[in-house]
Amino acid sequence: MDHFAYRNRVLHCEDVSLPDLAETYGTPLYVYSKATLLRHLREIQTAFAELEPTICYSIKTNGNIHLAKLMADEGAGFDVTSGGELYRALKAGGVGSKIVFAGVGKTDPEIRTALENGVFLFNVESEGELLAIGDVAKSMGKTAQVALRVNPDLPPKTHAKTDTSVKGVKFGLDIDTVLEFAQKMVGHPSVRVVGLHMHLGSPILSAEPYRQGVEKGLILIDKLRQQGHKIEWWNMGGGFGIHYRKQEALPAAAFAEAIVPGVKKAGCKLILEPGRFVVGNAGILVSRVIYTKDSGGKHFVIQDAAMNDLIRPTLYDSFHRIWPVQPAENVPCPPADYEAEIPNTVKCDVVGPVCESGDFLAKNRALPRLTRGDLLATFSAGAYGMAMSSNYNGRPRAAEVLVDGATHRLIRRRETYEDLVRPEVET
Ligand SMILES: Cc1ncc(COP(=O)(O)O)c(C=O)c1O
Repeated sequence: MDHFAYRNRVLHCEDVSLPDLAETYGTPLYVYSKATLLRHLREIQTAFAELEPTICYSIKTNGNIHLAKLMADEGAGFDVTSGGELYRALKAGGVGSKIVFAGVGKTDPEIRTALENGVFLFNVESEGELLAIGDVAKSMGKTAQVALRVNPDLPPKTHAKTDTSVKGVKFGLDIDTVLEFAQKMVGHPSVRVVGLHMHLGSPILSAEPYRQGVEKGLILIDKLRQQGHKIEWWNMGGGFGIHYRKQEALPAAAFAEAIVPGVKKAGCKLILEPGRFVVGNAGILVSRVIYTKDSGGKHFVIQDAAMNDLIRPTLYDSFHRIWPVQPAENVPCPPADYEAEIPNTVKCDVVGPVCESGDFLAKNRALPRLTRGDLLATFSAGAYGMAMSSNYNGRPRAAEVLVDGATHRLIRRRETYEDLVRPEVET
């Protein structure tokens, strides 16, 4: 459930009308609902409550510090993948004792900064990385705690570009050789192996991969303990899917059912790194139609949001529901099924102004006839939307607004043309 709904045929975020927000802040505009964000975070906290998990919001998903602060205020920690994300997490009120550091390519300066800030666990993905963490920790007179990130080699479960637990991807330590590697780490003077980490991929719409991962993890934890490692933490990553098309996603409780018994059996403390589940449906992208045209047997809706604002459709073939903010009387408001035949619509390619054929938000999509100036909402855009945006084609990044009941505030101003050249003119 989210807090974006039509009232008298006008889309609202909580109690605020989207046309009002578009008028105030311009388009393209990311709009977030505080109630939705907190609802989804609390759903995970409740589903896994029995284990009192450390929930490390995956800040890569949407790094806006105002949103991250809301999560820190609710008790969440952070999963960071770079020094930049660590900086953001700390700015948002994160504390090292609840921050985990993931990623295949941590540099020495990043490791040093993490240790200086008390980051409590590194998810280690290679032997070289573990040695580097050891060297840096030693030079600082510290001992680093690490979780071994294992690739459990499961069947494909999501888009190839976001599946992180099939053989041959760059992520994690190979499950077939991880124990040989772990054996060498027993008694390391500056690194303590205290956890197991698995992030299976994203978005995942079934609990089965988690069940399979947990089964493999239980065996591994047992063997790591036999080697002498004191395994206390089990980090199952993120990956819980959300509703992009209709109601296709599982509740957090279904993932808990697959994960909790195994973690209990292992006697471990649980860490989760959810991102998309928390923020995905808490945000929409609002855009304005600039032109429409017919060409090559197709109808194009050219609007002012582009691949630089939301790259998921062209990068991952992702589906986002799109519907007018103020639909005409003769169309559903909104449709029950965006992929079905919808009366009084035409099939459109929804495209942006960027000079790429791959610049689209949707292809062959049923939409009512639109005209210049109409507002469109692209739903479920809160995760990997603004976070993956760029300035390609000299486009200033969109503004972001946070709605809370009947109030709204700017949480990132729209970039200006000066912003586009500032790092160059200041050199
Ligand atoms: C290691 C790790 N943890 C957590 C996440 C967050 O995944 P999601 O947003 O699907 O919950 C990712 C996503 O790429 C990841 O790579």
